[in-house]
Amino acid sequence: MPQSTRSTIQNCRWHSYRNPVVLAQAAVQEILRAARAAINARGVFRIVLAGGSTPRKVYEALRTEDTDWRCWQIYFGDERCLPPDHDERNSYMAALAWLDHVDIPDKQIHAIPAELGAADAAESYAHVVDSIALFDLVLLGLGEDGHTASLFPHHDLGNVSDAPSTLAVFDAPKPPPQRVSLSARRLSAAREVMFLVTGSSKAQAVADWRAGSPIPASFIVPEGGVDIYIEEASA
Ligand code: 6PG
Repeated sequence: MPQSTRSTIQNCRWHSYRNPVVLAQAAVQEILRAARAAINARGVFRIVLAGGSTPRKVYEALRTEDTDWRCWQIYFGDERCLPPDHDERNSYMAALAWLDHVDIPDKQIHAIPAELGAADAAESYAHVVDSIALFDLVLLGLGEDGHTASLFPHHDLGNVSDAPSTLAVFDAPKPPPQRVSLSARRLSAAREVMFLVTGSSKAQAVADWRAGSPIPASFIVPEGGVDIYIEEASA
């Protein structure tokens, strides 16, 4: 798969923190600010959650925060094709760390039905997100190879203007091989995008990103730019 060509320049704002705890505290305050703004303006806060392990501290910290959870609508940027209660499911991690502990109505937590298999789950989830013009906030991680969500190097990133909202992935280099991802185009249709990056293992991907390499994370191009919350060890 040829590397996608990037038609839009990504405006990056880098926010560096000395450790994951301080980074998570800053991220939580920004998430709550975005939620207040969205709820005040439209009565609803639509947030897309990141997978992987990095966001866990942020989700655990949100558990005890005071906000109008009834206005929160939860979506997922990607999901691994595993049973819903599998330890490696992104939705399962978010539930254990946070969602099971707050009063967001179950019908407002829109998990990707990845247990159906990549193709069926991608088709099903597209119907969930296609009606949303803009997410209020998208949270994303960064892989050591520069991937984000389940958008991997040398794979279709879904970054063109008519790309579908969701992509079925069958050969992900990060296990499990079968996944569902929101496309780069869909992830970019957001008022705010926040990357969460910790650990020295991400340093090369960050260096490539800063040098302008076309890593998948660089194809997330919301009009308002992206905010990258990065631990010093990753910088
Ligand atoms: C996934 C994630 C993936 C993740 C990065 C970083 O399902 O694997 O969505 O994009 O965010 O791989 O993972 P860590 O946070 O575990 O380093």
